[in-house]
Amino acid sequence: MSGVVILHKMFSMLFCLFILISPVSAQYPLEKPSVNSGYDVYRMSCAACHGGKGDGSGMNGASDFTNSEIMIVRNSTLLFTTVTNGVPGKAMPSFGNLSLSKRWDVVAYIWTFWADRTGVDNGKDIFNKNCTSCHGEKGDGSGLPGAFDFTNLSRMAYVQPAVFFKSVSEGVAETAMPPWKDSLAQGGRWNAVKYLWTFQFRDYPPQATSQAAVDPSPSIEIPKDNEWYMTSGGAVIILISIAIAAWTIYLFGRGLLER
Ligand code: HEC
Ligand code: HEC
Repeated sequence: MSGVVILHKMFSMLFCLFILISPVSAQYPLEKPSVNSGYDVYRMSCAACHGGKGDGSGMNGASDFTNSEIMIVRNSTLLFTTVTNGVPGKAMPSFGNLSLSKRWDVVAYIWTFWADRTGVDNGKDIFNKNCTSCHGEKGDGSGLPGAFDFTNLSRMAYVQPAVFFKSVSEGVAETAMPPWKDSLAQGGRWNAVKYLWTFQFRDYPPQATSQAAVDPSPSIEIPKDNEWYMTSGGAVIILISIAIAAWTIYLFGRGLLER
């Protein structure tokens, strides 16, 4: 076997291995997440650090979910990944031990710190006046074929509020989506985006009890941070190392035999 052939075989083997073990988890929720269930998770596992009001007041350095500048450049998939893996080297633990649906629920709940009730209510009025003819009263795009469907979870999971705001302001070129920057004030456009964010949740607004998210539960259980070798990235590294080692030993053995 020439070196090139060996290299080629090695790479194809590693590639197959990679495909086999790459995590096949959905990066968007399979059903609409529940902000009420997310509230329960938040109180139990997150409020101690991120604060009952989501402002990061529980712990120095914990993210502030009421900070619009941060939230508008996030998307649900990103938040979900952080909740799943934690932030290595920082105090943010991994919550991969929570069920998929609980993790999506808590992500939904986190959004409600940004999509505040007052803003959403104002956005609803704006939406119902200006947008339902195309996007439908339920936000599912039923008014006009091709209008964006805000209940489509696989699309919503990847969208940043900032991108929606830009589309609402400027319109979308070569489509029926008109620009609104001349007819709606900036605050109104943001509130419209906040309202359309809620179409992806099963139960917005949260129940009255959930609204009183002020007291961080004192008895929280913080899961131990995963060691690197317990994460999927770590597993990939370990398996690839084993494969390379096995292949090297095999080639070495063959070399000895052929002498
Ligand atoms: C022990 C304290 C602690 C707990 C408990 C905790 N976090 Fe965090 N979290 C942090 C810290 C600190 C950061 C900032 C990490 C950094 O600097 O990147 C953070 C960051 C985050 C981020 C990233 C925000 C961004 O800017 O993208 C998300 C999302 C998050 N936490 C969600 C949660 C959720 C949901 C829970 C509960 C299920 C939770 N956290 C529990 C300490 C905590
Ligand atoms: C005349 C029909 C029409 C009206 C009225 C309308 N839209 Fe749209 N909108 C569309 C269409 C069509 C699209 C899909 C554009 C595309 O293919 O990207 C769209 C897309 C969008 C998008 C997604 C853009 C992106 O970044 O992918 C947002 C957000 C949006 N509309 C918000 C609104 C809001 C808020 C209003 C009311 C203030 C509104 N639309 C009114 C037709 C409309």
